[in-house]
Amino acid sequence: MTPAKMIPEKIISAKMTSTKIKGLILSGGSGTRLRPLTYSSAKQLVPVANTPVLFYGIKAMAAAGITDLGIIISPQTGDEIRQAVGGGSSFGASVTWIVQDEPAGLAHCVQIAQDFLDADPFVMYLGDNILEQPLAGFVQSFADSLSVSTTPAARILLAKVPDPSMFGVAELDTTGSVVSLVEKPTNPASDLALVGVYMFTDAIHAAIAQITPSPRGELEITDAISTLITSGKPVDSEILDGWWIDTGKKDSLLEANRLVLDHLISDPNSDMSDIRPEISPKIGNATDVEITASTIQTPSVIGDNVLIANSHIGPYTAIGPNCQIINSTISNSVILEGAQLTDVNGLTDSLIGRHSTIKGSPATTAAHLTLGDHCELELT
Ligand code: G1P
Repeated sequence: MTPAKMIPEKIISAKMTSTKIKGLILSGGSGTRLRPLTYSSAKQLVPVANTPVLFYGIKAMAAAGITDLGIIISPQTGDEIRQAVGGGSSFGASVTWIVQDEPAGLAHCVQIAQDFLDADPFVMYLGDNILEQPLAGFVQSFADSLSVSTTPAARILLAKVPDPSMFGVAELDTTGSVVSLVEKPTNPASDLALVGVYMFTDAIHAAIAQITPSPRGELEITDAISTLITSGKPVDSEILDGWWIDTGKKDSLLEANRLVLDHLISDPNSDMSDIRPEISPKIGNATDVEITASTIQTPSVIGDNVLIANSHIGPYTAIGPNCQIINSTISNSVILEGAQLTDVNGLTDSLIGRHSTIKGSPATTAAHLTLGDHCELELT
């Protein structure tokens, strides 16, 4: 028998859960808050540290031993997402694709996934969220709770936030049980926001069958969980330690880019570091990178086949593959694949779409830009 110390860490985590728990990752929606980028691509494929946001969730699930994944996609961006993820084998997972015709809410996603979910417990993960903390501990304690008589019907993850009214907000009793849950309340009962990760038993299906669309026209998972609570089914909670970010807007995407780059610097062996070989703050991992008369300030990440000349890059900058950066200075920005920047000075806090071209002039001293794919911009 192989000695325990020889078993790779990933195999141990994959075997950790004794109950079969499925994963449901939500990767539909229209991404209106990330326009113009999302006019031509899915919000879940926008890269953070050169890796699509969605891959962080898939990787986190797989590292927690959840390898049977259903992924909800929309008719508009589903094909692109399927192509990027493939069958899931590169993540050690197998993927069932479920198309949601309309963005009709998180609870609607669970409803249309019922054939896939069957009566199994599952973890639901919002595909545009990134968590610093691995899921394995949360999943294991939920799996353990399934075999005791006081099994919770649902367990939610919470994080303390300064602006709770933008999220689902939970009120807890002293034992951590959830007393109430309100979606985007005007007067929040606490500063505990619902993180985009939920653990459910099959009791959630009957609760969803009882709810009606919210004022924003969606079947809210928050309402379904509230129905569990009011019908006397226990819902408990865990509070996150590390950071959590919903990348749905430009500023939060740039923040996620900073947090992930910092995380990779401080913990190069974390779960996040082997999502794809190029996810590394070390330029050394990329191939065909040509850098002349330039400085790259850490933490930053450079993709494959990139040319950088007479430029300063960083800190907190991700340059996607096939980019050309000439006579330019860039910081705190995400530059997507194939972009070409020439004579652009002081580009900061910016998000530049695929294959966009920006031509500046020596007179350009500062620019804060959000560009979609295939844009052409000349600064004078
Ligand atoms: C959704 C949930 C909300 C949760 C948030 C986390 O909000 O409805 O309860 O706090 O995700 O990202 P939405 O992003 O749909 O506004």
